[in-house]
Amino acid sequence: MRTWIRSLRPFDAIAVQNLLERTIDVREAERFVRLFHAENPEAGDVHARLREVAKDIARHGTYTHTYEELQFGARVAWRNSNRCIGRLYWKSLRVRDRRQVASAEGVAIECVAHLREATGDGRIRPTVTVFPPDTPARPGPRVLNEQLIRYAGHRRRDGSIVGDPRYADFTEMARGLGWRGGQGRFEVLPLVVQPGLGGALLCNLPGDAVLEVPIEHPEYPWFAELGLRWHAVPAISDMCLEIGGLCYPCAPFNGWYMGAEIGARNFADAARYDQLPVVARRLGLDVTTERSLWRDHALVELNVAVLSSFERAGVTMTDHHTESNRFLAHLAREEKAGRVCPADWSWIVPPISGGATGVFHRYYDNPKLTPAFVHHPRPPAR
Ligand code: ARG
Repeated sequence: MRTWIRSLRPFDAIAVQNLLERTIDVREAERFVRLFHAENPEAGDVHARLREVAKDIARHGTYTHTYEELQFGARVAWRNSNRCIGRLYWKSLRVRDRRQVASAEGVAIECVAHLREATGDGRIRPTVTVFPPDTPARPGPRVLNEQLIRYAGHRRRDGSIVGDPRYADFTEMARGLGWRGGQGRFEVLPLVVQPGLGGALLCNLPGDAVLEVPIEHPEYPWFAELGLRWHAVPAISDMCLEIGGLCYPCAPFNGWYMGAEIGARNFADAARYDQLPVVARRLGLDVTTERSLWRDHALVELNVAVLSSFERAGVTMTDHHTESNRFLAHLAREEKAGRVCPADWSWIVPPISGGATGVFHRYYDNPKLTPAFVHHPRPPAR
């Protein structure tokens, strides 16, 4: 075995050893270091850094990113997110380095701080907070919530659900862990943090960390009576950030909303808040035949309401026409930089008026690139 490993290129030899010892993939590390130096020529001697990284991996089974590598890696992970239409501003992602924070309490506190900083007074700042990576010695911490802010779904005896049905299972799990939240339609779920070592922690988000927007319609006063509201910041917290062979299992990141995510999905999907029949009836539409296009009318008014409510509240939000144009600008820029921009048509095209947006009318390359945000199977709760 030894001789065989020695006969390989040094990087491949370490890779084989790492495979045997379940440490990180040195070739991934090498590829990332080269990418970082290719795009950041001022960063110094790539060969010196490669030697250092190889030595660290051989010795410890892992290595440590510099802050510059981490920041670049997180930004490129956004750039490589093939489902995201909002990547034009990938270079401006704010990267909060919290690799020294491993306790469940520490992670919860920093998630709250992330929300406060990213929310500001409504001018939302795309931000990622990076907690410790998995290492051969111990796994990194994790947040079990899909997003930092989400609404509970309460199952009633008759099987119906009050709130967001998507989170009914999570809500039951949180209650099982001792959560004592209310029974309303828009109850913010607690954070469930699983530290690298030890038991899970339940933590309620303080009210001032959760900016919400009540939804009203500029022309229909009755709209406010529907009692709809939504949180200002979408912050995905269950994806791992993979950079150069290292996996950061806890790296919550946020951008700002595109109105249709809320107006054409969260409020509209039959398996979510299912508001199209309610809105259509209040609009006095004929819901007895599909051919009245009552769903489509209701969708448009819902989306008008979401966009104008966020605007009135002074909270950053984009619409799908603007975002489509921005994405095409992003594609052109990436092409000019000599890069492929991976994109998944079925995610990029907005859920309403697809054909009225430019992104509908073309195909995309879609290779898997790293660094990346990826879904890893959740480890069993301890
Ligand atoms: N679609 C998800 C939601 O409705 C959010 C996904 C991320 N969106 C974003 N604009 N960054 O909550």
